[in-house]
Amino acid sequence: MTNPAYPALRMRRTRATSWSRAMVAENRLHPSDLIWPLFVTDGDEEQPITTMPGVSRWPVDQIADRAAEARDAGIPCVALFPNTQSDLRSDNGDEALNPDNLMCRAIGEIKDALGTDIGILTDVALDPYTSHGQDGLVSKNGRVLNDDTVSILVEQALNQVQAGADIVAPSDMMDGRVGAIRAALEDEGHTNVQIMAYAAKYASAFYGPFRDAVGSGGLLKGDKKTYQMDPANSEEALREVALDIAEGADSVMVKPGLAYLDIVRRVKERFEVPVYAYQVSGEYAMIEAAVAAGAGDRDGLVLETLLAFKRAGASGVLTYHALHAARLIG
Ligand code: PBG
Repeated sequence: MTNPAYPALRMRRTRATSWSRAMVAENRLHPSDLIWPLFVTDGDEEQPITTMPGVSRWPVDQIADRAAEARDAGIPCVALFPNTQSDLRSDNGDEALNPDNLMCRAIGEIKDALGTDIGILTDVALDPYTSHGQDGLVSKNGRVLNDDTVSILVEQALNQVQAGADIVAPSDMMDGRVGAIRAALEDEGHTNVQIMAYAAKYASAFYGPFRDAVGSGGLLKGDKKTYQMDPANSEEALREVALDIAEGADSVMVKPGLAYLDIVRRVKERFEVPVYAYQVSGEYAMIEAAVAAGAGDRDGLVLETLLAFKRAGASGVLTYHALHAARLIG
């Protein structure tokens, strides 16, 4: 197609008024594009997280109110993360399998209050439960063990599902966990539980505030580079996604978000599954730091970054700004 040249073509014509800009907009943000991550605490009071200004850990008896706010704003799903009290953390993360743990109680509260009004997504990984902050079991010589971890992750996922989780999201990056979890869900009759695989999850410097929020940051020695992906790679992300789909994932996730939009786009173009992006804690903190420094406008930064995910092809975004953004759009 050959375009006419200026002045027959003036690109500014369709930009001249807001009604016209609305008509030609190629992408739109909707509250149903958003998933709101929420932190839960065993304490009795809201606990603000210093490295994530505006984000708190919520006591179990206040978590259903947060979920109701999300529902009222049109957000279809919340993601839960527990800050397990320190005396319940152990080498093997056994607390993850306790049917009465913080996560399961929070799931129960939301289900009791809201039923099927909102989806509950739960993270499958051991880091909020281990005394060393790694996502899996660690051998005597310090290696994070794959297959032994997978067996525990299967039990953890079943525990969450028995409490009422709708979508389990393995975030641990062990090999083979999606297939193992899918098989166990089928065996146990949980045929409609979805798996959203953290398929392309990178060993990132953007997770710091999250680790403060779940209390694993101070415990973690070393890094997660033997299981999370190298930021240098993108072909490898496509292999990870292909594997997780083959093993039974209903949707896949790319994480972190903005620095990995190229991966979102490539996954979207190659595969026919919903692809989600996680705008992670460090990205949230960067926006809030810019706002606090007078270097940017929160509403503008939030909406522009979220729209970028849509433009890249994401079906939705996990973001700590979800409630704020949903209210802005709504
Ligand atoms: C744990 C997990 C992490 C995040 C989600 N699940 C941190 C990590 O892998 O160390 C990060 C989320 C965020 O930074 O907002 N498996």
